[in-house]
Amino acid sequence: MRAAVVSEPAGKFEIVNLPIPTPANNEVLIKVEACGICHGDSVTVEGGFDGKCKLPRIPGHEIIGIIKEIGKNAKGSWKVGQRVGVGWHADHCGSCNECIHGEFGACKFAKVTGLDVDGGYAEYMISKTEALSEIPENLDPIISAPIMCAGRTTFGALIEGNAKPGDLVAISGFGGLGHLALKYAKEMGFVVAVISRGQAKKELAVKMGARYYIDSQTGDVSKELMKLGGAKLILATAPNAKILEKLTDGICRNGTIMIITYVGQPMNFVAGKLLHSNGIIRGWTGGVASDALKFSSSNLILPTVETFKLDEVQKAYDKMMSGEVKFRAVITF
Ligand SMILES: NC(=O)c1ccc[n+]([C@@H]2O[C@H](COP(=O)([O-])OP(=O)(O)OC[C@H]3O[C@@H](n4cnc5c(N)ncnc54)[C@H](OP(=O)(O)O)[C@@H]3O)[C@@H](O)[C@H]2O)c1
Ligand SMILES: [Zn+2]
Repeated sequence: MRAAVVSEPAGKFEIVNLPIPTPANNEVLIKVEACGICHGDSVTVEGGFDGKCKLPRIPGHEIIGIIKEIGKNAKGSWKVGQRVGVGWHADHCGSCNECIHGEFGACKFAKVTGLDVDGGYAEYMISKTEALSEIPENLDPIISAPIMCAGRTTFGALIEGNAKPGDLVAISGFGGLGHLALKYAKEMGFVVAVISRGQAKKELAVKMGARYYIDSQTGDVSKELMKLGGAKLILATAPNAKILEKLTDGICRNGTIMIITYVGQPMNFVAGKLLHSNGIIRGWTGGVASDALKFSSSNLILPTVETFKLDEVQKAYDKMMSGEVKFRAVITF
């Protein structure tokens, strides 16, 4: 099979030929139809959280494909020929000290798709059955692949957040996660403000349903939000501490800022102001892929994608990192 591999931290992708893997206990072999390029894949490319990722590795955790083979003792009623999706599946052991009492993600037995085990930038991949989602029949595999991470994360955040239909929800960073957050939020009945750098994405944001557009490079983002009454919920997806800092005074009373983006740097904010708003700053990872798939399938809320062949993976990845993809790069096979 052909696969895109990263062999050293911050290295370039290489396209290599590898043997098609064989599914072991409770695993399936998937022929990949499409794999989205999530910003989260930069964690793998950079060598993992705290340099813990063992390279070489095949990244990719927004996968849709067809089951080709099923290993022994497979759980569930998965069938050869069935279309399935796989996301950022953290196969935590669930019973070690870290899983029960420790820091999230500290389980040393955890195996995350595309980080600790090979992912979907390849013609074939292996997955545990627990990581599989059934893909509704009316969803195109190429367009829908980003639902497996970008979709389920933002859909879950909007459900978990404390905003109600009619409330102002702000989305910071208008990329893979941000554009799906906008589409879901609009469909759920929220009033949406998109916060993006420059004016380049304004027209598309409005077309996708944003009522307001705030340029984070020129305006005072929090002041602009407060002119609108303050956001009940801000989904922070732009991977930059300076942008995060601009959001903290933009929530209304009892508002929440959900940090979805992975930012390794510290951020500054005036703690006292949070007291005045009764506000919450919290993190968010998770969401249930099958819920997002169901919502997308029922309401035809779909990602906007740019497709690339496996040979073009470096170009697609670089374009994603520079924030130029509109709005999710997807590798097709
Ligand atoms: N919590 C979770 O479970 C979870 C799941 C998936 C991804 N993530 C994380 O969420 C973040 C967003 O992922 P994504 O796939 O949506 O990324 P993406 O497609 O690259 O979009 C991120 C957007 O943020 C803005 N941006 C990018 N680089 C920036 C920079 N240096 N400074 C300021 N703004 C910048 C850009 O929007 P504008 O052009 O509009 O400014 C860009 O389009 C990443 O950190 C990713 O690792 C977390
Ligand atoms: Zn992701």
